Amino acid sequence: MTRQPFFYDITLRDGNQSLKKPWNLKEKEFIFNKLVEFGVQAIEAGFPAASEMDFEAVKRLAEISPDNLVVSGLARAVEKDITAAVEALKGCNIPRLHTFIAMSPFNMKYVLNKSPQEVRQTAIEAVSFAKERMKTLGKNAQVQFSVEHFGDCSENLDFVIDTLKEVVNSGATIINLPNTVERTRIKTFVDMVEKVCNALPKDITIAVHCHNDLGMATAATVESYFAGATQLECSLNGLGERAGNTNIYEVAIALHNSGVDVPLNLSDIYELSLLVSDMSKIAIPEKAPLIGPEALAHRSGIHQDGALKTKDMEKGAYRPIHPTLIGRKDDEKIGFTSQSGKTAVYEIISDAGYPITVQEAVRITPIVKEAAEKVGELPARNIIDIYFNEVFNVKGDFRLVAFEKLSETVFNLKFFHKKEFFDMNAQGNGPIDACLSALKEAGFEQKLVDYEQYALDSEIFGSGAEAMTVIHFENINGETVVARGKDKNTLNANVKAIFNGINLMSGK
Ligand code: KIV
Ligand code: ZN
Repeated sequence: MTRQPFFYDITLRDGNQSLKKPWNLKEKEFIFNKLVEFGVQAIEAGFPAASEMDFEAVKRLAEISPDNLVVSGLARAVEKDITAAVEALKGCNIPRLHTFIAMSPFNMKYVLNKSPQEVRQTAIEAVSFAKERMKTLGKNAQVQFSVEHFGDCSENLDFVIDTLKEVVNSGATIINLPNTVERTRIKTFVDMVEKVCNALPKDITIAVHCHNDLGMATAATVESYFAGATQLECSLNGLGERAGNTNIYEVAIALHNSGVDVPLNLSDIYELSLLVSDMSKIAIPEKAPLIGPEALAHRSGIHQDGALKTKDMEKGAYRPIHPTLIGRKDDEKIGFTSQSGKTAVYEIISDAGYPITVQEAVRITPIVKEAAEKVGELPARNIIDIYFNEVFNVKGDFRLVAFEKLSETVFNLKFFHKKEFFDMNAQGNGPIDACLSALKEAGFEQKLVDYEQYALDSEIFGSGAEAMTVIHFENINGETVVARGKDKNTLNANVKAIFNGINLMSGK
């Protein structure tokens, strides 16, 4: 697919007119500059005849626009509006006058109170007038014509097409086909778009402008592109009248994922969406595609497993994009509920910087699940608390009372096994060796496979300098059991790790 989509942004017109508090000039200018950075090829800057403020905004944005950007002003098909828009667009290198009239049978009859012939005549006269006036703005000046309510024109499509041919002959080079109110199937709309594309000369740019009344504006826009429409009218965060316009991020990503060359800086998307949400005072819904706080969260065990196995791959098991494509740094969020599993426990604890083995995650998962059943999603802090409790303080048949160094090679160990108290002196080549000798003498021989000692990162563990010992035992089934102990004193860390290990193996 070589045809590049042309992104015509309508945030500052359709989006702005729908806000409870429309943006002032300074705010519009700020968004305008962000849109330029984002890479849209055209910006509809406002409706100059609507108010003095809109006129001033279009004038200012036209003046500051880069040379390669189309800046457009909206005008009804009346001379007064067209004159105001032409005046406002004067300072721009590629000015575009955008005029429109409704052509659906319903709107012509009940809203415009005009016959189809009168509407056709109005459209032709408006475009001819606009063309003449725009000539005064230089060779790059353009005229765009929109069939308002095109989506409702299935019964009179032949009339619309015939009118558009005349509109093109009168000087419009861009024909926009809005789904002004999304009422029915996308396929019907896209088939109509395709018919217009086939009926008009190839050098005419066909545009679509889809509202999102039924939540299908993205699909309508994307499929219209594949049916022949090149100009895609979209807005940031989907701002626009009622349920909004087509969301530019969704269209951009859907096309990108379909192998289309999308000329936008996709990595700007996430930050831009937060900014627009802030400035429009319209929160991003939790489940909003791509940009919603929950859009990349996984809670079921199966999804978490797939997500984590494909975390660093460009294509993920349960996500449409890699988060970095749109500049998201929060990665795939793993939330723990009663539906989640060991993979989530493992990930949450290791992500927080704590050492955990898969074996430990498996062991503590039922306890974490039980806690989640009571409260719903469990904060990471609570999961970490459970990890500390269960991993560094394993309850079982054995209870350490004291361990002391009596000389270089002799140590004293006091402990309970169930209710029985033991007080043993033992020799050893270091504390671990001596402690295991004492246990052996008391009848509790253990098979040590390996051990390691670490200095704990006090920033993570938050308790000043501490030592951690990791002991690997082999149990009676020949399986390796990993146990940990931590303490300010290395000697105690060693013995605590041994007692955590023997308690684990005692099966409690
Ligand atoms: O939704 C619509 O039909 C419009 C036109 C003015 C293009 O916004
Ligand atoms: Zn609109």
